Amino acid sequence: MRFASRVESLGGGSVTAWDIHNAGKDAQARGEDVIVLSVGDPDFSTSAPIIDAAVAALRSGDTHYTTVAGRLALRKAVAHQQTRRTGQVLDEDNVLIVAGTQNGLFSSCQCLFGPGDEVIVVEPAYLTYEATIGATGATMVRAAATADGLFRPDIAAIEKAVTSKTRGILIANPCNPTGVVLSPSELEGIADIARRHDLWVVSDEVYADLVFDGQFSSIAALPGMAERTVVVGSLSKSHAMTGWRIGWIIAPKELITHADNLALCSLYGIAGFIQEAALCGIAQTEEITREMREIYLKRCQVLCDHIDHAPGLKCLRPASGMFALVDVRETGLTAHEFAWGLFKAEGVSVLDASAFGPSASGYVRVAFTVGEDQLAEAGRRIVRYAISLTGQA
Ligand SMILES: Cc1ncc(COP(=O)(O)O)c(C=O)c1O
Repeated sequence: MRFASRVESLGGGSVTAWDIHNAGKDAQARGEDVIVLSVGDPDFSTSAPIIDAAVAALRSGDTHYTTVAGRLALRKAVAHQQTRRTGQVLDEDNVLIVAGTQNGLFSSCQCLFGPGDEVIVVEPAYLTYEATIGATGATMVRAAATADGLFRPDIAAIEKAVTSKTRGILIANPCNPTGVVLSPSELEGIADIARRHDLWVVSDEVYADLVFDGQFSSIAALPGMAERTVVVGSLSKSHAMTGWRIGWIIAPKELITHADNLALCSLYGIAGFIQEAALCGIAQTEEITREMREIYLKRCQVLCDHIDHAPGLKCLRPASGMFALVDVRETGLTAHEFAWGLFKAEGVSVLDASAFGPSASGYVRVAFTVGEDQLAEAGRRIVRYAISLTGQA
């Protein structure tokens, strides 16, 4: 049987990156003493009022087709939330409700890019970006972050990557896996390139509510950027709602019309009871996300404090999110060898961060998605493994 040539763009390295995570989950399912720190799925349950809103909607018969673009009240709430964050003038026609950030990225890229186009991605970058861009027929062009171990975007490298084929720049602000939150001058540097070369910017802001060090600003709020920026986000991380698959695209109205047409022939709308839950979640964003930030910051400190005592390891303390990068190069192992060695010796699964791009090779990504006690135990195991490698206490 023959498949479309497009399928070639859907596989690739990022798919095998999950092997260790799957091995960790399988071992856990067999009852083995494994601590899984390889995925960004919050361990908290979704808050009770949100669940109640979904259940009430289901019980009241909210089980039918919905409007493809999303319910008016939810689109208004998303627009209002973004206006509060950025000061942008927005209304419901700037918003499309989608099945999470990933679906929003996929849909917007389908509407913006095509065969022969190039899209610049600041790397290290989230694993799915390459296939998301590849599925449009465009090519992802990597602009490596600064090589000083801080993983800041290198504005000169982005500028250098621009060619006559470039149509857009895809950024994650804040970034997974680095936790980097873009500064006003970095945002202005990227915006300046986009304006001068007439490019789209796709801004993945799924971690925007989880910044614990510094201030989040959206590139869409900069002068001349609203008309060329697509902001994509969801409640997955900020509200522990990964499995609900609910998110949004915020963009110029014309793009929303195209994405709406795409949704009509793909998703055909998001379940009404999930939209009702999301509406309830957005109404409680302040309280929910304040608590999440406190918890993740504490967990980050617990884990990084342990790793700071591990010979040969350096922990990059993130400014946001639920991950830390750990530099393992001094152990003499590659990150792949370190991750599998740690898993086999100590039962802790972490990801080889080179899956996020070559500039993160030599680093592993550790998620704070288990409670403090388990994280402390994971930290002790990581230290023990590092000692076993280096022979130093
Ligand atoms: C940077 C980034 N973007 C998008 C996603 C996907 O988020 P969602 O669950 O909203 O599709 C993730 C999930 O880990 C992520 O880290």
